[in-house]
Amino acid sequence: MQYRLLGRTGLRVAPFALGAMTFGDTSWGTDETTSRAIVDRYLDAGGNFIDTANGYASGRSEEILGAVLAESGRRDEVVLATKFTAARRAGDPNAGGNGRKNILASLEESLRRLRTDYLDLYWLHIWDTVTPVEEVMSTFDALVRAGKVRAVGLSDTPAWYAAKAQLRAAAHGWEPVAALQLEYSLVERSIEREHVPAALDLGMGIVPWSPLAHGFLTGKYTRGGDDGIVGEGRVQALRASPYGRRHTERDWAVLASLVEIADELGASPAQVALSWVTSRPGVSSTLVGARTVAQLEDNLGALDVILSAEHLARLEQLGRPDLLHPYDLHVPEHTRRLHGGAVVAAG
Ligand SMILES: NC(=O)c1ccc[n+]([C@@H]2O[C@H](COP(=O)([O-])OP(=O)(O)OC[C@H]3O[C@@H](n4cnc5c(N)ncnc54)[C@H](OP(=O)(O)O)[C@@H]3O)[C@@H](O)[C@H]2O)c1
Repeated sequence: MQYRLLGRTGLRVAPFALGAMTFGDTSWGTDETTSRAIVDRYLDAGGNFIDTANGYASGRSEEILGAVLAESGRRDEVVLATKFTAARRAGDPNAGGNGRKNILASLEESLRRLRTDYLDLYWLHIWDTVTPVEEVMSTFDALVRAGKVRAVGLSDTPAWYAAKAQLRAAAHGWEPVAALQLEYSLVERSIEREHVPAALDLGMGIVPWSPLAHGFLTGKYTRGGDDGIVGEGRVQALRASPYGRRHTERDWAVLASLVEIADELGASPAQVALSWVTSRPGVSSTLVGARTVAQLEDNLGALDVILSAEHLARLEQLGRPDLLHPYDLHVPEHTRRLHGGAVVAAG
């Protein structure tokens, strides 16, 4: 493993972070025994960055992870991250979301389940649309100063909100946002429009989630059947939920080219898809998910895949996001005119 810094912090993180969302989930996830084996295999391979959330399997994911780390005595080796936002109980608006009251209460519950007295990274899980950014950032700062948290991050927020958080933190001398956790894969590249440029400009690392699009990019699904997709796995399980994705013509075209490139390289499609994500600008560490140890093995093999400039260029073009307004005005043909015909690059 070649470690990278997480954004502009001094935290050294492996290129692949282990996602613990599958741990303890009884529908599309994995049981405790396999979860433990996945953690052991990841740490033995040199991995050091593990991600969970208070809401994963209603807290079971944190409990399993806490037990493995406590029993193995390896807590201190790990950059341990969890998240708040998910409601801790129904019917109480202050027991969910991103207000100070819920952040502090969620943290105490997570620390107890994780059997630790500090987190290396604490994430806001999802923008709740209402809490002022100053309340979130000042609470984060207090937690860092109290020694309960080493670094802080934002997941699933609009880019404008992340930029505002970072600028408010700088203005007040608060702990800055270390990283943004966002969905990013060959078939979901929306963040390239706003989040990636904001992260690069404001010094926030990117930590992509669902880099295999919930397993779609492993190549184990084909077109067909009544639903238009054949194959077993989480993608099928999610189709009935609000998180299910209706795969487009473009998704299938991306997958076909990905499989072609993987064959040329003698690698698995998952390895090529993961290697592409890790190579993208601004990415600090990519979250890998696995339901079995064999899947984790396959995914870690991406570290040995070397994509040529030609492969990267082919993959880059596949699912490039459409140039919606105003980005359609920022292409070289237009900007050159603004510069009197000259080509001008940023310093
Ligand atoms: N911040 C957020 O909102 C957010 C949201 C989602 C995830 N996350 C984080 O990101 C992590 C990774 O996300 P993800 O689990 O969605 O990632 P993913 O890599 O897109 O999907 C993982 C799933 O794909 C299948 N799979 C993985 N590797 C495979 C392989 N080599 N061969 C065949 N199938 C394979 C498995 O499901 P099946 O075996 O069932 O097909 C596995 O559970 C999570 O654990 C979590 O920490 C964060």
